[in-house]
Amino acid sequence: LVLILDFGGQYNQLIARRVREHNVYCEVVPYDISVEEVKRKNPQGIIFTGGPASVYEEGSPKCDPEILKLGVPVLGICYGMQLMAHLLGGKVGRADKREYGKTLVSLRESRLFKGISHEDICWMSHTCFVDVLPPGFKVAADTDSCPVAAMFDEDRKLYGVQFHPEVEHTQHGKEMLKNFLFDICKLRGTWTTGSFIDEAVAHIKEKVGNKKAICALSGGVDSSVAAVLVHKAIGNNLTCIFVDHGLLRKDEGDQVEQVFKEKFDMNLIRVNAQSRFLGKLAGVTEPERKRKIIGEEFIRVFEEEAKKLGKIDFLVQGTIYPDVIESGTKTAAVIKSHHNVGGLPEDMEFELIEPLRQLFKDEVRLVGLELGIPEDLIWRQPFPGPGLGIRVLGEVTEEKLHIVRESDAILREEIKNANLHRSIWQYFTCLPDIRSVGVMGDERTYSHTVAIRAVTSNDAMTADWARIPYEVLERISSRIVNEVEHVNRVVYDITSKPPATIEWE
Ligand code: XMP
Repeated sequence: LVLILDFGGQYNQLIARRVREHNVYCEVVPYDISVEEVKRKNPQGIIFTGGPASVYEEGSPKCDPEILKLGVPVLGICYGMQLMAHLLGGKVGRADKREYGKTLVSLRESRLFKGISHEDICWMSHTCFVDVLPPGFKVAADTDSCPVAAMFDEDRKLYGVQFHPEVEHTQHGKEMLKNFLFDICKLRGTWTTGSFIDEAVAHIKEKVGNKKAICALSGGVDSSVAAVLVHKAIGNNLTCIFVDHGLLRKDEGDQVEQVFKEKFDMNLIRVNAQSRFLGKLAGVTEPERKRKIIGEEFIRVFEEEAKKLGKIDFLVQGTIYPDVIESGTKTAAVIKSHHNVGGLPEDMEFELIEPLRQLFKDEVRLVGLELGIPEDLIWRQPFPGPGLGIRVLGEVTEEKLHIVRESDAILREEIKNANLHRSIWQYFTCLPDIRSVGVMGDERTYSHTVAIRAVTSNDAMTADWARIPYEVLERISSRIVNEVEHVNRVVYDITSKPPATIEWE
């Protein structure tokens, strides 16, 4: 295990990623973790991340200095190195201007740089620097403007780098981390999804014992993997509640039932609450209002079902590592209240089980595959909690839901046939609240317009419209107008995000 002490740097997530890429398990923990807790976790290596503060600033994040005395190798990165220097009796100075970007660094002899040539391009982003080394340390690297670009005390196994080995722009960053993990920390790189599953199962067993747990299953990747994992640990002491709000894609509800009930033999309660949701949504047109209604109704249905089950102690949630990070730092303006159906009320008295809290999305997928969850489900594109409720623009009715569901199924089928389903982040149809005139046979029609939305993206924060080949678009368009009643026009949305968003509402 490697512990990563989080000092608020923008690349922290990346550090964890890089460590995992070497098949070494790591956990990101708050910088103020106690030394007892560190000892309890018994890490073979510790990394201090960068961060925006300066060590002399009042209230700047500082860890317990005792952590540096445990004899466990520590690698300090950027702020992490400055803090290490500061805590051990060195001095940190402040430059007039920031050193930023790719920088040529001269490396000296050190275990950290073993096998790397004496000069390397490294990624820098700092204003403060180590001015006076702490006793026992040596300079391991320098640049034109930074006399201590890296430092080390080989006896105490303490290392610091001013640059960012985790960023791709650092040419041999990967090797440096590898040296730290394998040569200095003596780790072996044996962490695999299989070992993750074994450990997680053992841990959940111990935590839950013979008590009961409950889970809100949506059919999304994260909650599905979490549920199957917990089921593996405690069997039918886990009950999954699947609220079918009638805003799912075509056949989706049945698929969820099939996978979890039939394949995994799990205790699944499907609540058919379609009419209840539609009733609440009647006459409502404003998107945020719709989101709120769907979110609240979801919670109500879930609570009612949970109550029927008697005493339940644990709630399983599919929180993954990026959620943990995001919820910690989100200060952005509310563009849409991305209420995740699955986000449950705070006053429910459950203890949480979040077995995927430390995993990245691709790791979650690997774990899911290893657990035997079908590929289709594992590679499902993101689907908003309020579902088709925000893809039928304006008032939601059964007829409009039908149009979206059918047109969306055609789109999905054709995208898959064209083998584009893995390269496009999200693709769906939506139903703008407009009708237009057309001609079919010799008749005038006045029917709905269906819009296709398909985007490429890495994280949904920004997105570009997907360049679907014309022939594929043509096939989709003609199939939709031919096969879906009440549709006489198909348009393709060619706006990126920003200025648009991925969903239309
Ligand atoms: P936007 O439309 O904001 O969407 O560009 C970004 C990503 O978030 C999804 N999305 C939602 N997810 N509840 C969710 O759980 C919501 O209310 C919601 N609205 C949008 C959207 O599908 C895309 O992946």
